[in-house]
Amino acid sequence: MVSLVSTTPYQDQAPGTSGLRKRVSVFQQRHYVETFIQSIFDVLDGFAGETLVVGGDGRYFNREVIQIVVKMAAANGFGRVLIGRGGLLSTPAASQIIRKTKAFGGIILSASHNPGGPEGDFGIKYNAGNGGPAPEKLTDAIFARSKIINQFRTIAADDIDLDHLAVSQIGGMRVEIIDSVADYQKLMQSLFDFDRIGALFRSGFAMKFDAMSAVTGPYGKVILEDVLGAKAGTVLNGVPLADFGGHHPDPNLVHAKFIYDLAMRADGPDFCAASDGDGDRNLIIGRKQFVTPSDSLALLAANAHLAPGYAKGLAGVARSMPTSAAVDRVAHKLGIPLYETPTGWKFFGNLMDAGLVTLCGEESAGTGSNHVREKDGLWAILLWLNILAVRQQSVAEIVREHWAVYGRNFYARHDYEEVNADGAAALIKALRDDLPNLKGKKLGALHIQDADDFAYHDPVDGSNSERQGLRILFEDGSRLVYRLSGTGTSGATLRVYLERFAQDVSQHGLETQSALADLIQLSRDLARIEYFTQRQAPSVIT
Ligand code: G1P
Ligand code: ZN
Repeated sequence: MVSLVSTTPYQDQAPGTSGLRKRVSVFQQRHYVETFIQSIFDVLDGFAGETLVVGGDGRYFNREVIQIVVKMAAANGFGRVLIGRGGLLSTPAASQIIRKTKAFGGIILSASHNPGGPEGDFGIKYNAGNGGPAPEKLTDAIFARSKIINQFRTIAADDIDLDHLAVSQIGGMRVEIIDSVADYQKLMQSLFDFDRIGALFRSGFAMKFDAMSAVTGPYGKVILEDVLGAKAGTVLNGVPLADFGGHHPDPNLVHAKFIYDLAMRADGPDFCAASDGDGDRNLIIGRKQFVTPSDSLALLAANAHLAPGYAKGLAGVARSMPTSAAVDRVAHKLGIPLYETPTGWKFFGNLMDAGLVTLCGEESAGTGSNHVREKDGLWAILLWLNILAVRQQSVAEIVREHWAVYGRNFYARHDYEEVNADGAAALIKALRDDLPNLKGKKLGALHIQDADDFAYHDPVDGSNSERQGLRILFEDGSRLVYRLSGTGTSGATLRVYLERFAQDVSQHGLETQSALADLIQLSRDLARIEYFTQRQAPSVIT
């Protein structure tokens, strides 16, 4: 029996590029989830009888929200929902299922790499029929609707059993609990040479994959251990937990330090990797060789043809503006176009839909290709494995050879997290106002060539995005970039990106910190970071 329930709107349901993200306690307010879900359904058109994909990263509140969404989908007229078993779907797997089943769209429940549990974060994101995050037009419309919504539709029904593969019915809607991994595994098998990767593991190649007690545990176990034959125990923290075991499921050098330390041992595994809460990010570390995400993107672009799915070559590659220019040199050598987009995966979607790029990535540990419309952590790890299996070299050898051919982009990101929001805004404003004065300035050995606020013109839909990050470009090719995070859940996070190119890799030694030392100091002085944020040093360096 469908019922219309009266409610009062909340005024804070603004979905960003990664959906609506708040503390769990915010989502637990009366009808908070319902008003947001109804706002999504209200602005969508033409889904009667169509399919909706639903799943999440298993964090606290995932199951409760799935029950709400399913009943509301039935009451609003969807014909079918597909739910990952246990309520689990990694973000890339959800993207694939939407595409494969020609679903109308999907609801993904995750706050990505943010902590989970009752005190942690939760998130709701709508993905469209192409499998990618809702475009800004749509998220703006959802927000507008959420401010005035006064009723939602639901249906009285028993909760769905999420843990068994089965088909049932709610009202006129079919509910299917599907295997979370099977389709994704098949897709990976179609892209990569599983025989060769299997042979690599049989030859004694040792790997550790830290699933960080998040969604990729089941994917890693099936694909790496069961199918590819990696030793049992290759997957660490492979059981998804509602609070991720109390950790940040963020595969960076702070939160994935365990796997980093393991990889740095002389007797450590050949290959270490990790992924984040919802499985779209990746971390790659060879024995005694950390690979920055920017370098990883460049290396994958240079070697992708070694995997069957990319044997015909790449149409083009794309990177977000703050990502290092390492991949630019590969694109140049391959003679393919390189697109530089603002931060955020949604900008890659148009380029992929139009067939302009095959591979894309961000410095924030996101890499992906046109096989789905999200970044994909396990995909990146499997492409690395495919390359290692074919080249029969260590990660360190491959990285060093790459630098010898293309030069090296020393790179680091300094995050000043949870600083005062007004102070951070004032810092950006002051620096933006100062940009015209910076051009041509000489600061010690560093000469500023140009300074601007990055703007992007989308070649596919013609849209313009302005104020996407302040760039200070130096004559020697070095670069400083400043921007404020759009995904934080409290205060503001200032991100400073530092980059220096060296054609001759022996020029600066191997230490990123020392190669960037003068830029690091300058990054603080130029923007008066301590004055505006009361911080002398970043909280996270990646
Ligand atoms: C961060 C990353 C960005 C990524 C986004 C969503 O956004 O920097 O590359 O696309 O998370 O995963 P930010 O917090 O910097 O706005
Ligand atoms: Zn994520």
